[in-house]
Amino acid sequence: MTRFYVVGNLKMNMLSREEASQYLTVLRRESSSKRYAYVTGIIAPSFLYSAQFDDLPKSIKKGAQNMFPEKSGSYTGEISPLMLKNDGVEYVIIGHSERRLYAGETDELIHEKLLSVLKYYMIPIVCIGETRAQREAGKAEQIITGQIRTLFSDLSKLQAEKVIIAYEPRWAIGTDILPTTSEIAEVRMIVRQVLTEMFDTATEERIAVLYGGSVKSSLLPQVAFETGMEGVLVGRESLFPYELVKMMNLFEEEAIRRSKI
Ligand code: PGA
Repeated sequence: MTRFYVVGNLKMNMLSREEASQYLTVLRRESSSKRYAYVTGIIAPSFLYSAQFDDLPKSIKKGAQNMFPEKSGSYTGEISPLMLKNDGVEYVIIGHSERRLYAGETDELIHEKLLSVLKYYMIPIVCIGETRAQREAGKAEQIITGQIRTLFSDLSKLQAEKVIIAYEPRWAIGTDILPTTSEIAEVRMIVRQVLTEMFDTATEERIAVLYGGSVKSSLLPQVAFETGMEGVLVGRESLFPYELVKMMNLFEEEAIRRSKI
């Protein structure tokens, strides 16, 4: 069965509890009457407001934007998987390119985080993607293959099939510059190939792959419906609850359309 994901990454936005609660009021109003058979919404607020996001509409789950791999201890400023789990978080974004860029995160650290998210029975949404220079040098395939191989190393098939991958070309994030439909579809194929080599086709088919980078609802056909992607990771536009819900609606319509073919 088709299953789509719409992930809202609120990043370091909303500067007060009041702002967070206004956002939630609008989100609840926009999605209150909607039921989704094929779409899961996920919203990842700042840790500071996580408790305010307890009471989300049924079709939207609580996510987190990052996590430290250790359960507890002397790790100043970090957030543990068990803290997230106990706070009702179900999905954790890891390895976002902004974490790679500003916090120096490596594929090895992200791999550790991935194992830790799974250990605490949450779903990792792991980000991969090449820089503009890497793409121009013809190295996108090599970079993506290397990232998948490191991130999924030592995972059992059962662990691997729980992971959600978000392909986010770094040069498309926050820029309104998009890859072409065929560039996205090609990456989807590369990811499929590597995962099939590492595991098997049945496992690969259970791993959802999303697209992220300058997504808005009007772009869903070109970044998702025509590329084989199973959803989107959304930054700026997720700050508008109306847009987020609209994307969920469009994915639901697309899934219904496919179910009738
Ligand atoms: P954007 O961010 O939608 O603002 O480009 C996407 C992301 O960073 O996940």
